[in-house]
Amino acid sequence: MFVVSFAYVSAADAVDLSVRIGALRLRNPILAASGTFGYGLEFAHLVDLNRLGGFVTKGLSREPIEGAPAPRLYPTPSGMLNAVGLQNVGVRAFVVEKLPVLREFDTAVIANIFGYAMEDYVEVIRILEDAEGLAGYELNISCPNVKKGGMQFGSDPACVAEVVGAARKAAAKRPLWVKLSPLVTDIGLIARAAEEAGADALTVANTYPAMAIDFRSGKSRLGNPTGGLSGPAIKPITLRLVWEARRAAKIPVIGLGGIETVEDVLEYLAVGASAVQVGTASFTDPRASQRLAGTLTKVLLRAKVFTVNELRDKFIAENG
Ligand SMILES: Cc1cc2nc3c(=O)[nH]c(=O)nc-3n(C[C@H](O)[C@H](O)[C@H](O)COP(=O)(O)O)c2cc1C
Repeated sequence: MFVVSFAYVSAADAVDLSVRIGALRLRNPILAASGTFGYGLEFAHLVDLNRLGGFVTKGLSREPIEGAPAPRLYPTPSGMLNAVGLQNVGVRAFVVEKLPVLREFDTAVIANIFGYAMEDYVEVIRILEDAEGLAGYELNISCPNVKKGGMQFGSDPACVAEVVGAARKAAAKRPLWVKLSPLVTDIGLIARAAEEAGADALTVANTYPAMAIDFRSGKSRLGNPTGGLSGPAIKPITLRLVWEARRAAKIPVIGLGGIETVEDVLEYLAVGASAVQVGTASFTDPRASQRLAGTLTKVLLRAKVFTVNELRDKFIAENG
């Protein structure tokens, strides 16, 4: 483990928070996660976007999607359920209305992409390839594949290889991150399938399918029967997935699930994450990502650790 010593170093710039995710350099390892940070612009009056490692946009689809009926959020013990239904303005409106404003900021904007058939993913990337102002793509493969009876793309290595391979061909200009589904038997197999098909990094992981009901009315607490579970409740489960993905693949892993404190960030780095994303925490504190980047600087200074990379892979597995 890194040695925590409290000798004080004066200048914050003695600490280098920057990280490399493949060819992409991020100012620091803290990004805001997809679906919890809008298109970034909604947060610009509260958060200094230029102080984030970057952020991932809401999922973008070929056509606009209105999303799921209300209620879309429901609080659970140490977590949150959501069924937003991937509401978004559609990729063309994103390019015309959001990107020109986002280009004013000096932060890495990662476009999150989803679809219900392989061609949807390819088409969204094709449209984004012609636009300026993006640092990369993140493929959400936790979506039902309509051509395979609704089975999630992310749950089968062959399906993952197919959709990532097609996306890779379309994404000639920019890095391609693949966001894995946590609902898999062996995340190592999925991680390797994505890597071999050309992914530059893995984002681990999405929300966990879950439900909350009111037994009195017999109805779901959400507008949909089920939703996705996020927040601190999922952190121990996702931490394991990040560790396993890191061991299985050589490409960088970006960890996310339940991060609220700088200790959470350090734990994800220790099991091998190169960077992290902050999702649900932004609902209670919109400045959570910026705050964590600031606290990380202080913690490193106090520990006399001068680069984030020194913190990675510090977990020691004693029995296995
Ligand atoms: C309200 C909400 C909307 C989300 N929308 C998306 C999305 O559009 N695309 C995606 O890949 N993940 C989406 N996610 C998943 C998050 O990006 C993240 O993977 C998950 O919430 C776990 O991180 P957390 O515990 O820090 O929230 C969403 C999560 C929430 C809570």
